[in-house]
Amino acid sequence: MQFVMHPKVLYAFHSIQRNLNHLKDNRSPMNKYRTTPIDIGKSDFKKIGYQLIDTIANFFDTIEDYPVTRGESPMQLQKILGNSGLPKKGKSSEEILERSTKLLLDHSLFNGHPKFMGYITSSPAPIGVLSDMLAAAVNQNAGAQILSPMATEIEKQTIKWLTEFIGVSPTYGGILVSGGNMANFTAFLAARTAKGSQNIKDYGLFANQSKLIAYCSKTTHTWVEKAAILFGHGSKSVRWIPTNTENKMDNEILSQTIKDDLANSYQPFMVIGTAGDVSTGVVDDLDKIASICKTYDLWFHIDGAYGAPAAIIPELKGMFEGIKEADSIALDPHKWLYAPLEAGCTLVRNPKHLTDTYSSHPEYYNFSKNEESQSLNFYEYGLQNSRGFRALKVWMALQQIGRQGYEKLIGEDIALSELLFELAKSHPELEAMTQNLSITTFRFIPTQGLPDNDKERESYLNTLNEKLLDKLQQGGEVFLSNAIINEHYCLRGCIVNFRTSKKDIEEIVEIVVREGIKTHHELQKEVQMNVK
Ligand SMILES: Cc1ncc(COP(=O)(O)O)c(C=O)c1O
Repeated sequence: MQFVMHPKVLYAFHSIQRNLNHLKDNRSPMNKYRTTPIDIGKSDFKKIGYQLIDTIANFFDTIEDYPVTRGESPMQLQKILGNSGLPKKGKSSEEILERSTKLLLDHSLFNGHPKFMGYITSSPAPIGVLSDMLAAAVNQNAGAQILSPMATEIEKQTIKWLTEFIGVSPTYGGILVSGGNMANFTAFLAARTAKGSQNIKDYGLFANQSKLIAYCSKTTHTWVEKAAILFGHGSKSVRWIPTNTENKMDNEILSQTIKDDLANSYQPFMVIGTAGDVSTGVVDDLDKIASICKTYDLWFHIDGAYGAPAAIIPELKGMFEGIKEADSIALDPHKWLYAPLEAGCTLVRNPKHLTDTYSSHPEYYNFSKNEESQSLNFYEYGLQNSRGFRALKVWMALQQIGRQGYEKLIGEDIALSELLFELAKSHPELEAMTQNLSITTFRFIPTQGLPDNDKERESYLNTLNEKLLDKLQQGGEVFLSNAIINEHYCLRGCIVNFRTSKKDIEEIVEIVVREGIKTHHELQKEVQMNVK
C-alpha cells in the first residue's frame, strides 16, 4: 500500500524544510544582513559602470566610423541573439553588460550618426544620456509631488523654460510625456473635456447631442486618426482639410467646412494646426487658424512635435506668431531639442483643463491638496499614474546648451538642410522638391534611359526612387526616408542632428547619385527582362 501524505502535512513539511535551507544559505532574508542576487556591490558597480562609460565615450567619439545601420534581417538578428529560454540561474553583471553592449553597438541603427536624417529622431545629447542614468538611480515617481519632491519642481521649471523657449506665456502649464503621439493625445482629450458636453465625464460621448468634429490639414501626422479611433470618436469625426499651393492647410476651406458642419448639426470642437509637418516641415498659417477658432469658439491645438523649437530662431518669429494663441501645444524634446528618447511635452494655456480631464482622488492616495503648499501632482495632468523623471534630461540639456546654444544648433540644422536643397538643385541628376525648416525633399532623375511617355516616365521614376531608398536604408552609408510630393516619390532628409556637418551633406549627395545610377541600371535590366 502506498503512503499518501495529507496536503496540509505536506505543505508544513516543505515549509520547515525551506526555512532550514534558508538558515543554511547565507543569501537568506533570515540572516541579519540580507544579500540578494540583484544588488551589485559598490566596487563591482564602479568597475562595470566605469567600463560602460568608457565604451559609450569611445562610441560617441567614433560614431562616424560605424555604419548607420547594418540592415540585418530579423532572422539574422534572432540567430545572433539566440533563442534560449528564461535563464534559470543568474550570471555576472559584468558578463551581461559586456554582451548587451556588444549586441547593441554591433547591430543597431544609430540615429546619433552624422548621416542619419531619416525620421525625426535626434542625435541624443550626451548630457541626456548621463541624466537618464541619474534619473534611474534616484528612480523618482514623478506622478505625485510627495513621491518626487525635487523632481516635480524640476519638471515644473522645465515646463516654464519650454514656454519661454517657444515664446508663449509662462502661465501655460504642462507635462512631460513619452513623445509626440502622447503629447497630442493629452491635448486632444483636454480639448474634448473643455468643448464637449459638461456631462462628458459621466456619460462619455453619448452626453453630446451632436457629433464632435476635429479639423486638421491633410498633412497632419497619423496621431489624429489614432486619437479619434482610440477615444471613441471614430475616424469619420476628423475633417482632413486640403492644403494650398504652399502645402499649408487651406483656411478658406477650413472655414467653409466648419460652417457646413454647423449647418448640418455637427459640433466642431477643435482645430489642429501643424508647426512643421512630418513630411515637408511646412508650418500652417497659425494666426489665421487662431482667428477662425475664435470666431467659432473652438479649441486651437498646435502640433509642434517637430517644428515648435524653431520658434527660437529670431528670423522665424513671424512664422510662429500664432503659437501664442494656442489653447494647447505639443512639442517633442526627443526631436529638435536633442533629448534621448523618450521625451514629449504638452503645454496648455489654462492648466485647469488638464486637471478637469485627468484628475481623480482615490481614497488610497494621501496626496492631500494643501493650497498653500502649491503641490502639483503630475498624475492629475495626464494619462500616466506612475511616471518616470523624463524632465531631468530636458532640464539638464536646456542648461548645458542655453538659449543661444539652441539657436545656433537649430539654425545650423536649417542651414544644412538648405545646403542639401541647393546641392540637389544644382546637380544634373537630382531634382530638388521642397525645403522647409530642416526638411529637404528631392529625387534622383537619371539623365538617360527613361521612358519617353510622361506617365510611364513618372511611374518609372517613382519605382526607381523607392528602390533607391530601400538600397540606401540597407546600405549603412546614409539613412534617408521618403515623402510623396504631388504624387512623386521623393527622398527626404530631416536634420535634427548636431553631428551632421557640411562634409556629410556633400558626401550624401555623392552617395545618392552613385547608388541612384546603380539602381537605375538594375531596374532597366528588370524592366527589359519583364518585356521579354
Ligand atoms: C508633426 C508630428 N507629430 C507627431 C509625431 C509623433 O511623434 P512620436 O513619434 O514621438 O509619437 C511626429 C513624428 O514624427 C511628428 O512629426
